[in-house]
Amino acid sequence: MRLFSLYIFHLIILVFSLLLITPTQSHLTTSAIQLPSQSPTISVTDFGAVGNGRQYDTRAIQSAIDACPIPKTCHVVFSSPGAYLTATIHLRSGVLLVVEEGAVILGGTQLEDYPKESEKWYVVLAEQVDNVGITGGGEINGQGLEFVKRFDEKKNVMVSWNQTGACAGDECRPRLVGFIGCKNISVSNINLIEPAYWCLHIVDCDNIGIHDVSIYGNFNSPNNDGIDIQDSNNTVISRCHIDTGDDAICPKTYNGPLYNLTATDCWIRTKSSAIKLGSASSFDFVHLLFDNITIFQSHRGLGLQIRDGGNVKDITFSNINISTRYYDPSWWGRAEPIYITTCPRYSNGKEGSISDIHFINITSVSENGVFLSGSKGGLIRDLKFSNIDLTYRRWTNYIGGLVDYRPGCSGLVNHNMAGIIMEYIDGFQVENFNMRWSEQKSVGWDNPLDFRPSTVNNISFVNFHSSFYHHHSI
Ligand SMILES: *[C@@H]1O[C@H](CO)[C@@H](O)[C@H](O)[C@H]1NC(C)=O
Ligand SMILES: *[C@@H]1O[C@H](CO)[C@@H](O)[C@H](O)[C@H]1NC(C)=O
Ligand SMILES: *[C@@H]1O[C@H](CO)[C@@H](O)[C@H](O)[C@H]1NC(C)=O
Ligand SMILES: *[C@@H]1O[C@H](CO)[C@@H](O)[C@H](O)[C@H]1NC(C)=O
Ligand SMILES: *[C@@H]1O[C@H](CO)[C@@H](O)[C@H](O)[C@H]1NC(C)=O
Ligand SMILES: *[C@@H]1O[C@H](CO)[C@@H](O)[C@H](O)[C@H]1NC(C)=O
Ligand SMILES: *[C@@H]1O[C@H](CO)[C@@H](O)[C@H](O)[C@H]1NC(C)=O
Ligand SMILES: *[C@@H]1O[C@H](CO)[C@@H](O)[C@H](O)[C@H]1NC(C)=O
Repeated sequence: MRLFSLYIFHLIILVFSLLLITPTQSHLTTSAIQLPSQSPTISVTDFGAVGNGRQYDTRAIQSAIDACPIPKTCHVVFSSPGAYLTATIHLRSGVLLVVEEGAVILGGTQLEDYPKESEKWYVVLAEQVDNVGITGGGEINGQGLEFVKRFDEKKNVMVSWNQTGACAGDECRPRLVGFIGCKNISVSNINLIEPAYWCLHIVDCDNIGIHDVSIYGNFNSPNNDGIDIQDSNNTVISRCHIDTGDDAICPKTYNGPLYNLTATDCWIRTKSSAIKLGSASSFDFVHLLFDNITIFQSHRGLGLQIRDGGNVKDITFSNINISTRYYDPSWWGRAEPIYITTCPRYSNGKEGSISDIHFINITSVSENGVFLSGSKGGLIRDLKFSNIDLTYRRWTNYIGGLVDYRPGCSGLVNHNMAGIIMEYIDGFQVENFNMRWSEQKSVGWDNPLDFRPSTVNNISFVNFHSSFYHHHSI
């Protein structure tokens, strides 16, 4: 504590010296060199932030960030305890926000807290800057519950700021943290809590590290995605913990391709898809790896939801344990452990293809089967499943018997459950695949493999096994 205050004292002096450029500068700079880190450290408190959770600290925080000498790495510290209420804050090149454990950056809940353009509605926003990040063990909180108009166990009804005309429908709320057009991003050791809309959004960036990030969002709030990686290259995600309503890790392409993403060592629960490519998919997705992931009671496990003509290539899912169950059908997903679809969003739209997809070492317990559906002009090619162990068992009372093509395409279609439903596939290898069915007569499932109208070609099954088992229920 003592050392810490002394440390802070030095920093205050350092900051003042930098600001005032007094004659004592060189002496104090020497003392700064003895600090554990070479980078300058600036505390938002020194710029007048009060951290009482009621008064806005926006100006103090932004001044602290703006006081960082460019292009050096600069630590901007939010000290604990403190809840720093703020409108949008803008990061600059070299800035690392350090939110200490016990400190919270609290996003404002008023429209006037955010920039005019809705695509810049973030609590923390880094735009066209390099070498930026967030760390420190603390929390960034979007106060998402303040955006719930009506709580509903099925799906909350959310506030919409669409009166500005800036965005449409009910998807008109601020995101939590955004990096747009940045290089060298590091988000680590931070809790991202209750986003009003998407949580961590990376757009048009290169070289991104996301490690030890914990994300929590209300389970019934739509669109509170975990991590959305859009039009970006070279992303490494590890040790994430995501418990939220909407898609947890969600690569998307709107205006450019997405290359090289790995996500490993994560735990996920969501009322939507744990991993989902799409549905925004106008450009290609290439070379993605998902490894050592636990997916708990989610509406969908591993999903490719390709709708806009982009092609998907070279994707591996390995060492993944999944449990999926039904939730209210107002959410996309029908408890599929694995869901691969490509179809045009609109009837005259482009059809993207999906090729070279491997599933290795996957176990699951789920209330529905695997759904693999290409389309006439966008086949699924060279799909490989190895060491797969799937258990099928019903334990909720939600309605089954629906195949889910949403969004767009054929929508929800009545169709009995099957172990694997396949259509428009060319090249499918299955090796060491075990399917176990709980003996629940009333459920009416009995079809391990469902080849829909002969659109499936060149398939091989090696060591495939399917059988009933007796489940001892209470
Ligand atoms: C805002 O979105 C809601 C919900 O989708 C819709 O009912 C309403 O008409 C929209 N208002 C405007 C001005 O767009
Ligand atoms: C990104 O970081 C790498 C090494 O960490 C460095 O060589 C490169 O110059 C950085 N890029 C930018 C744009 O600063
Ligand atoms: C990602 O890489 C692709 C292929 O080289 C390139 O076209 C695209 O512009 C890159 N995107 C970014 C954000 O660097
Ligand atoms: C993707 O990763 C590979 C191998 O690490 C690298 O050679 C390639 O340049 C990367 N692609 C992009 C678009 O950065
Ligand atoms: C898998 O991820 C978990 C964290 O979810 C980690 O504890 C474990 O060490 C990882 N296993 C391997 C083999 O890396
Ligand atoms: C999945 O379950 C298997 C068998 O219980 C276990 O060996 C493996 O470590 C688990 N993997 C993950 C990612 O939890
Ligand atoms: C799959 O699991 C086996 C047995 O646990 C292991 O030896 C192998 O390395 C795993 N494969 C991959 C790609 O992780
Ligand atoms: C069948 O599929 C396998 C792998 O999926 C591929 O290697 C092979 O070339 C295909 N054969 C034909 C005749 O297309």
